[in-house]
Amino acid sequence: MSALEISGLRKTFGGVVALDGVDLSIDLDEILGIVGPNGSGKTTLFNVVTGALKPTAGSVRWRGENIAGLPAHQIARKGLVRTFQQAMSFPALSVRENILIAHEHGAASVNGKSMSPSDILHFVGLKGREEEIAGSMPFGNLRRLGVALALAARPALLLLDEPAAGLNDGETEQLAEIILQLPGRGIGVCLIDHDMNLIASICRRLVVLNFGVKIAEGPPNKVLNDKKVVEVYLGAPT
Ligand SMILES: Nc1ncnc2c1ncn2[C@@H]1O[C@H](COP(=O)(O)OP(=O)(O)OP(=O)(O)O)[C@@H](O)[C@H]1O
Ligand SMILES: [Mg+2]
Repeated sequence: MSALEISGLRKTFGGVVALDGVDLSIDLDEILGIVGPNGSGKTTLFNVVTGALKPTAGSVRWRGENIAGLPAHQIARKGLVRTFQQAMSFPALSVRENILIAHEHGAASVNGKSMSPSDILHFVGLKGREEEIAGSMPFGNLRRLGVALALAARPALLLLDEPAAGLNDGETEQLAEIILQLPGRGIGVCLIDHDMNLIASICRRLVVLNFGVKIAEGPPNKVLNDKKVVEVYLGAPT
C-alpha cells in the first residue's frame, strides 16, 4: 500500500469537470511529477487532496485513512502539506516570523527526521536573511521562503505547485537540488510544473493529466514520448 492512494477522484465546478476519475498513488521515497496543459486539473488535484476543496466523488486515502472532505488544517496536521502556485507568506512579517508561524501550525506527529526552523533556512539558502521582511524580498527568495514554510509544517508528503514558475535557470537548478534531497530526509514529493527539463531531471515517475483525465503514467523518457502526450502538448494553447 502506498502512503497516498487516490481513487476515482472527481471534481466538478458546475458544468466544468476538473477531475474526471483520477487514480494515483504516491510513496514517500519518491518524487512524482504531475504535468498537463493549462486547466488540466493539476492544481484542483492538490486542492482536493489537501482539503481546500471537497471532492465530488472518489477517495483519498492517506496512510490507510480516507481523508477526502476533511478540513485543510486537519489534513496538514497529518503531514500532507502543499505550496501554492502564487508564492504565499505573510508579507509584512520577517522571514523568521513567517517560519515560526508555519512551524507552530505544523503536523502534530513530528517524524524523527524533521528539521528545525534554523536547519530549514540553511537548507533552502535563506540563512542570514532571517530579519528580512518577506514582502520586500526578491522573487527567487520568496519562492525559497514558500518551500521553507511548507517544510516548517513538518510534511511527510510535500505537494509543490509550480515551484519553479518565474525562476531563472540558475534558481531553478538550486531549487531542483533542494527538492532532490527531500526523499532522503523522509519527505515524499509531488511536483507540478510546466518546466519539462526540471520535471524530467528530478522525477523518476510522471503522471500526465488532460481535461481531468490521467492519460499517461511512467518514467519521464517514456511518458514524454508517448503519442497521446505529444499530441496534447502540440495541440495545447500557448
Ligand atoms: N474554484 C474554481 N471554480 C471554478 N472552476 C475552477 C475552479 N478551480 C479550477 N477550475 C477549473 O477547473 C479546471 C482545472 O483547473 P486547474 O486550476 O486545476 O488547472 P491546472 O492544471 O492547475 O492549470 P494551470 O497549469 O494553468 O495552473 C479549469 O477549467 C479551471 O477553470
Ligand atoms: Mg495550476
